[in-house]
Amino acid sequence: MLVIGVLASGRGSNLQAIFDAIQSGTLNVRVGVVISDKKEAEALVRAKSNQVPALFLDPHAYPDRESYDQSVVAGLIAHRVELVVLAGFMRLITKPFIDAFPNKIINIQPSLLPAFPGLHPHRQALAHGVKVSGCTVHFVDLDVDHGPIIAQVSVPVLETDTEASLADRILVEEHRLLPRVIEYYASGRIRSEGRRVFIEEGLSI
Ligand code: GRF
Repeated sequence: MLVIGVLASGRGSNLQAIFDAIQSGTLNVRVGVVISDKKEAEALVRAKSNQVPALFLDPHAYPDRESYDQSVVAGLIAHRVELVVLAGFMRLITKPFIDAFPNKIINIQPSLLPAFPGLHPHRQALAHGVKVSGCTVHFVDLDVDHGPIIAQVSVPVLETDTEASLADRILVEEHRLLPRVIEYYASGRIRSEGRRVFIEEGLSI
């Protein structure tokens, strides 16, 4: 069974969606470790309640981003991780990390990339007045929210939306999308041709 490692900085609701999907039998992977850069991250508590090793790595304890990432990589390798899932991990990752897991790191962003990468995507979406937003799961490369797109789900933006209400509506779809993409990856049903990524015919998100 594929071993995944999840990196999260905050409440970890996407991590929880992964645990729930494993529990219900729709996702056939094992979470080998959860790593956070924030000591108080709820994601670490969720990991422990699911008997998964929870590792807090303090960025302040390292001289630069590369050495921090090397320590993250060491933690992932120690737990035999084969696919890395960034689920609300609020740090930019560096080349040593990407080189250690080539095409084996995925991220979820609550916008329809390439629109609204980076911080505050919902605020950006409202400020631009778009009528549709959503969420994207993509492979991670060196640029922020830029790597090849694996799957997207759209969500309407309503006239009455605030940042919070839009975030909540998109989050529901994130919780469905991320476990599905991981399952497609785990069962070998994702194929890449350069920047274009395909999920085996007949299967839709
Ligand atoms: C999610 O909206 C995710 O897309 C973004 O950060 C948020 C994390 O939420 N990258 P959670 O920690 O999974 O609840």
